Amino acid sequence: MCGIVGYTGSAQAAPILLEGLSKLEYRGYDSAGIAVMGSKDISVVKVTGRIAGLCEKTDNGRTVEGCAGIGHTRWATHGAPTEENAHPHLSNDGRFAVVHNGIIENYQTLREELKEKGYHFDSETDTEVIVHLIEMYYHGDVKKALIQTVNRLQGSYALGVLCRDEPDRIYAAREASPLIIGLGVGENYFASDVTALVAYTRNAVYLDDGEFAELTRDGAAFFDCLGQPVKKSVSRITWDVQAAEKGGYDHFMLKEIMEQPGAVKAAISPRMKNNEVVFEELAITGNELAGIRKIVITACGSAYYAGCSGKYVLEALTHIPVEVVLASELRYSNPLIDNTTLLIVISQSGETADTIAALKECRARGARTLAIVNVVGSTIAKLADDTVYTWAGPEIAVATTKGFTTQLAVLYLLSLYFSRLLGIAGEDYAEHIRILKSLPRLIQQSIDMNHGLPKLAEKYHTANSLFFIGRNTDYAAALEGALKMKEISYLHAEAYAAGELKHGTIALIEEHTPVIALCCNRRIMEKTLSNIVEVKARGAEVLAVSYRDNTKILSVADDFIFIPEVADIFSAIVEIVPLQLLAYYVAKENGCDIDKPKNLAKSVTVE
Ligand code: G6P
Repeated sequence: MCGIVGYTGSAQAAPILLEGLSKLEYRGYDSAGIAVMGSKDISVVKVTGRIAGLCEKTDNGRTVEGCAGIGHTRWATHGAPTEENAHPHLSNDGRFAVVHNGIIENYQTLREELKEKGYHFDSETDTEVIVHLIEMYYHGDVKKALIQTVNRLQGSYALGVLCRDEPDRIYAAREASPLIIGLGVGENYFASDVTALVAYTRNAVYLDDGEFAELTRDGAAFFDCLGQPVKKSVSRITWDVQAAEKGGYDHFMLKEIMEQPGAVKAAISPRMKNNEVVFEELAITGNELAGIRKIVITACGSAYYAGCSGKYVLEALTHIPVEVVLASELRYSNPLIDNTTLLIVISQSGETADTIAALKECRARGARTLAIVNVVGSTIAKLADDTVYTWAGPEIAVATTKGFTTQLAVLYLLSLYFSRLLGIAGEDYAEHIRILKSLPRLIQQSIDMNHGLPKLAEKYHTANSLFFIGRNTDYAAALEGALKMKEISYLHAEAYAAGELKHGTIALIEEHTPVIALCCNRRIMEKTLSNIVEVKARGAEVLAVSYRDNTKILSVADDFIFIPEVADIFSAIVEIVPLQLLAYYVAKENGCDIDKPKNLAKSVTVE
């Protein structure tokens, strides 16, 4: 969480920093600040709340003079979102300013040590120890002081440093938090994510853990923790500027929901050749796969729910048992994982701290690792043995939509691909290929068939509690549907395996309790139908998600969301889309801040 930016060049820095921060706001949005090197001193401006407040306070940056600076948008970890705790933090002598994304785990010990040495602290943050350490180690050489400082830090950081003595120079360092250097002409940048850079340059250098960058107008130098120069390659950013703009939609979330047919197509099309699934990026062979006894999928949040859906398809097509484990649980569970395990990690950002830790834990135990990731060059993409990109493009809204459906698309593709590699692809392989190719169209239909969702949202937005029920693939989709509702509308929503409801939770169903019943898996439809009847008997208001020809449901449910006909195992990707829209319209009815829901951040780089 938290986003950082840096700029050095000949233009006024503050407007560029603010523009960059506005693109990173999804990473945290409770307070923000910039530090810019003025004619003599570093000027710092901070606000609580959004970047818009910082823009207002500085007339969009115009009132802050100087051509080198750093900026930060915060998601509070240590200390409340106040101006004192907002970054940048200054050293006691005012010589250094620091912005930080990550967590310094040993900050308390360092804080005590620094206090004993006479440094005073203005904030409750873990970050502030960094700037005082730099001051303590500084004897005329910033680079040296920075290296000595990071050697004292435990935890994760992406750091940006500005020093009064070197007015046109900015420094950056990284350990387990994302940091990208943007190379321009006569100007250079750093940022937590390429979306903040893409308006200025397409040439990027991805820092690795333990590396530093020293940026001036005219150059970028990279070095390691011993101060030795490191050669870095320059990558080309392919995301375009429009992709990170709202493009006429009220919210990024709505735009990203509507982009799903195209995003899913971008995930599927390059992997289809002559009616076969191909994964040119995958090194795993049929022999290696034949030695796999178990697949473990790990992830957090929606990516975990994508894994829950993927399990059904992987097991059906590969006949390999699949376990889906939350990354935050897996990392401390002493897992039974060895070199006969294939670990699949799923992450939109590729930077989620728990997912990274679970990946490292399983690697250490010998698992073969495969990552499904959206953000190119992210930590998870680099750590795994094999990486498959979802090609969803930049996802800005905190609540994921196209990130999720493209993960499902990749899981479907992998299932088919593995079945071929293992030589067990069934007669239905060709039919499955045909369905995968038609998914973008079916997703579009699923949007087009549900223009009535705003009306349904008017009916359901005042509910105290909503239950999402379903079985099998429908249950997996229900989990994600309920999460979407919670995240952006703040309504209590709970997903339940339909058959499990009667074992306790049905006690909560009373007159008019909304139950969203997912009923798209034809194989077990009758069973879900019985559960619908049970909740109806207790007064529930049932909104069914199913097919138009499902007359039995039509006769029991109160409201309907229809989806186009799709094979059972791939139905989740089609049925989730109207549920994303339902959550969107409910949140809109409730006046919620849809793209930046309270307390959340898109990229969760802390435990
Ligand atoms: C956060 C986001 C969720 C996301 C989860 C995992 O909690 O708010 O939308 O699903 O992190 O993120 P990842 O980037 O690993 O997919």
